[in-house]
Amino acid sequence: MTDLISNLQWRYATKKMNPAKSVPADKVARIVEAIRLAPSANGLQPYQVIVVNNKTMLEKLKVAGKGQSQITDGSHLLVFAAWDNYTPARINHFFDLAIETRGGGDEAWENYRQSLIKNFGQRDSQANFEHATRQAFLGLGVALVAAAEEKVDSTPMEGFDPEAVDEILNLKAKGLKSVAIMPLGYRDEANDWLLKQAKVRRSSDTFVINVE
Ligand SMILES: Cc1cc2nc3c(=O)[nH]c(=O)nc-3n(C[C@H](O)[C@H](O)[C@H](O)COP(=O)(O)O)c2cc1C
Repeated sequence: MTDLISNLQWRYATKKMNPAKSVPADKVARIVEAIRLAPSANGLQPYQVIVVNNKTMLEKLKVAGKGQSQITDGSHLLVFAAWDNYTPARINHFFDLAIETRGGGDEAWENYRQSLIKNFGQRDSQANFEHATRQAFLGLGVALVAAAEEKVDSTPMEGFDPEAVDEILNLKAKGLKSVAIMPLGYRDEANDWLLKQAKVRRSSDTFVINVE
């Protein structure tokens, strides 16, 4: 078995974290870096990751998170906040960054830029937000794997009130909407009821369709 597969078997959506243990900054940084390296449609990275490790903020966010204890028992909370819309300014920022990084910027690149500005501009903001949300969830997936590789416990969460989280973190003013949150911490081995439960996954026979 590879380390990757054994780490994915080790990880689980932790229900009870040990509040006495804090995740070291270098581990948090590597998890966040893995998210930054995640792919996204057209490379636009249409979301922000907010790293919260302020106790007062975490207490407020726990209320918005339906009281889920991992939010305050973990030492850090990652908030995935998707763009509320694709705007020309946001698209231009990526295209300018690519020119700055790679040099050049020929006619084909400029045509590509204009086609994205046009295509996203023709869709309503809800469709664009949902598209951005899908990209943020790719980041969430990478974060879950990266945390497992660091032997850091985590819980992917959609069970929260996004409007309340947006209010606490002042996201609306930044054109962002929270779509997922993920506490980072360490499992409370004595008190987590889920720890001793076997992982439930469909067999590969029923999960995978092979076309040969
Ligand atoms: C998008 C998403 C949202 C989830 N929301 C919550 C949540 O709000 N609270 C929670 O305790 N677990 C949540 N989970 C955890 C899932 O229930 C869990 O990942 C699933 O049952 C598989 O178990 P495992 O992660 O332990 O292998 C969520 C998982 C995902 C992927």
